[in-house]
Amino acid sequence: MFSKEIYTTRRENLRKQLSGGLILLPGNSDVPFNYPANIYTFRQDSSFLYFFGIKNPDFAGIIDADSGEDFLFGNDLDIDDIIWTGEQPSVKELADKCGVKQTYNFSAVYDFISKAISEGRKIHYLPAYRAQTKLLLEKLLGIPAGEVNDNTSEELIKAVVKLRSVKEPVEIKEIEKALDTAYLMHTTSMKSAVPGVKEQEIYGKIEGIALSYGGPVSFPVILSVNGQILHNHHHENILKAGQLMITDAGAETEMHYCSDITRTTPVGGKFSLKQKEIYETVLKANTEVIKKSKPGVFYKDMHLLSAKIIAEGLKSVGLMKGDIDDAVEKGAHALFYPHGLGHMMGLDVHDMEGLGEDYVGYDDTVKRSKLFGTAFLRMARKLEPGFVVTVEPGIYFIPALIDIWKKENKFTEFINYDKLEEYRNFGGIRIEDDILITENGCKVLGKPIPKTVEEIENLMSEFIA
Ligand code: GLY
Ligand code: MN
Repeated sequence: MFSKEIYTTRRENLRKQLSGGLILLPGNSDVPFNYPANIYTFRQDSSFLYFFGIKNPDFAGIIDADSGEDFLFGNDLDIDDIIWTGEQPSVKELADKCGVKQTYNFSAVYDFISKAISEGRKIHYLPAYRAQTKLLLEKLLGIPAGEVNDNTSEELIKAVVKLRSVKEPVEIKEIEKALDTAYLMHTTSMKSAVPGVKEQEIYGKIEGIALSYGGPVSFPVILSVNGQILHNHHHENILKAGQLMITDAGAETEMHYCSDITRTTPVGGKFSLKQKEIYETVLKANTEVIKKSKPGVFYKDMHLLSAKIIAEGLKSVGLMKGDIDDAVEKGAHALFYPHGLGHMMGLDVHDMEGLGEDYVGYDDTVKRSKLFGTAFLRMARKLEPGFVVTVEPGIYFIPALIDIWKKENKFTEFINYDKLEEYRNFGGIRIEDDILITENGCKVLGKPIPKTVEEIENLMSEFIA
């Protein structure tokens, strides 16, 4: 945990932004995997972690925006638990670590909230993404579980997003730790991309690296020679020389801060000329965005910049044609780049996405596009110092999408469908870094992971005969 001052200051800052009422922050509980006692690895709720720092299950926190008090609800273990789990810190000890003075047994939260409701007090809570939390809120608030998310507090959501968006120096250090692990995961993946190896072997190896450094992976590892499938979670292929392998993977630290990196590796260690041409375009989109990202810049404009670089690059190899500004404005590039440039990252790999993507990535100054591709952009608003965002452009050749667009004669003025046939089995390329927005620009976080064609080929040449 960070120092108790970090958590008390965060709760104080949250209080200052609300007009009054009680802020109810339930932590997560264990979730059964295939029978009640066999559970998934526990992951605490990120907003609860942010304000209370406690990683254990079955807690709830209340922040009183009127009185300035904080309350923690949780149960000490009894001997029946201790024989299985060993002794654990008491609720009081954990409360002390995050600067909370008043603690109660978990069951007291029901009376606490029921009294507040009878006094007509406002209960602020965030959207729930787990069924257990919805059921808890149903019991606490008397709102049917299915309707709990219709009654969340927009005031609280906006206040939490405001605080969690700007990372504190201690948080940046944690993110950099998660990136140290990502460095090992990705360089291991590159070194392992040898013909004859099964994707599953590399997948297991790099997930093991994350686990061995104390945290889980920050999302299920994406590792595939079918990189054109954006979130490909199948790992059954045997690598063949000449294929491209996408590895999109990151780790959490013990405190649950995340990293999220993508690299694309030529199986066997050498890019072909055709692969290099496409790779250099994606790399340019990645590096130009990094050069231009700074406070005051709309991330939507960075997305459009990356889309234009991608469309220009595709034009230079004969896959696109016509006026590139026009093509991007109309959304023709999305055949090859059907996702957004990036997202916020912090305690969640898609930071705060559970609170509502539009609250995190959009505001009154920028609305979500309705165009296929651009509409999937998660982060569009103006960058501010302290934001951590991913930069992850890509180019993909998705046969199912190509076939639909071709049949519809979609954007024939911008897309050369005949030439595209030569790329049908190309796969995909994505390159992703995590950047911190600084006062004047931005900084790529973490130790540099090989990214240029030369750096990747050099690293691989040391390991692949
Ligand atoms: N790295 C996976 C994603 O950002 O969706
Ligand atoms: Mn990402």
